[in-house]
Amino acid sequence: MEIREAVSLRRSIRCFLSKSVQEETIRDLINEALWAPSWGNTQQYEIVVATGEAIERFKRENREAVLAGKKQSPEVPMQENWPDYLKKRYVDVGKSVLTSLAIARDDNAGRLNYYADMFSLFNAPALIIMTADRDVHLEYIMLDVGLFLQTFKLLAHAKGLGTISLAAAVRYPEIARNIFNIPENRKIIIGTALGWPDNSAPVNNFERKRDTMDSIVRWVS
Ligand SMILES: Cc1cc2nc3c(=O)[nH]c(=O)nc-3n(C[C@H](O)[C@H](O)[C@H](O)COP(=O)(O)O)c2cc1C
Repeated sequence: MEIREAVSLRRSIRCFLSKSVQEETIRDLINEALWAPSWGNTQQYEIVVATGEAIERFKRENREAVLAGKKQSPEVPMQENWPDYLKKRYVDVGKSVLTSLAIARDDNAGRLNYYADMFSLFNAPALIIMTADRDVHLEYIMLDVGLFLQTFKLLAHAKGLGTISLAAAVRYPEIARNIFNIPENRKIIIGTALGWPDNSAPVNNFERKRDTMDSIVRWVS
């Protein structure tokens, strides 16, 4: 697949088929994605790969936690209040997702059920969690993690696989830490679900948006 095609056609997948991904496929993807650049080639992240019984238990416990309204305490702080121009983009994608699922704005039960699906990784059979040494500054790690993940996502897309990074996967870090045996000296950064996309699901097909280049770029010469 052409790199340009992978870049423009990759999208976040919110409905996965109940079909596992072979361990060898995941190994190949990670091996290739490890060619992503990193600060001083430090490759600061460690990657936890969860499949099988472990991920099923994680999905169950994460789902139960959100349905019970358990307090969330992510280890990378989440933005509480967005400036208006960013909030608009955030709200817009939320509307597109809920509209594609035919969940009305005031349908609280429908929304909670959707969050439960999100916290249980939209049924994905595999999850990779990026972790970082607690003693290292987060800012540059986050750049390195982002570069790794986009490379991983594009390679996965080129194999017909789907991905979605999910803050929702790490809002209860204690669940991941316990089930996946992540030591206390590792900060849990972000989870990315991996699996075979249900290409017929409307939630995997709504029109995605980006602001124009002119609204984001300022040229100086
Ligand atoms: C760091 C990060 C965290 C994300 N967390 C979530 C999440 O918790 N739930 C969700 O539905 N999408 C999540 N997303 C997916 C974004 O909503 C998505 O990337 C964005 O809307 C752009 O759409 P696209 O990936 O389809 O191009 C996350 C993406 C990133 C990069």
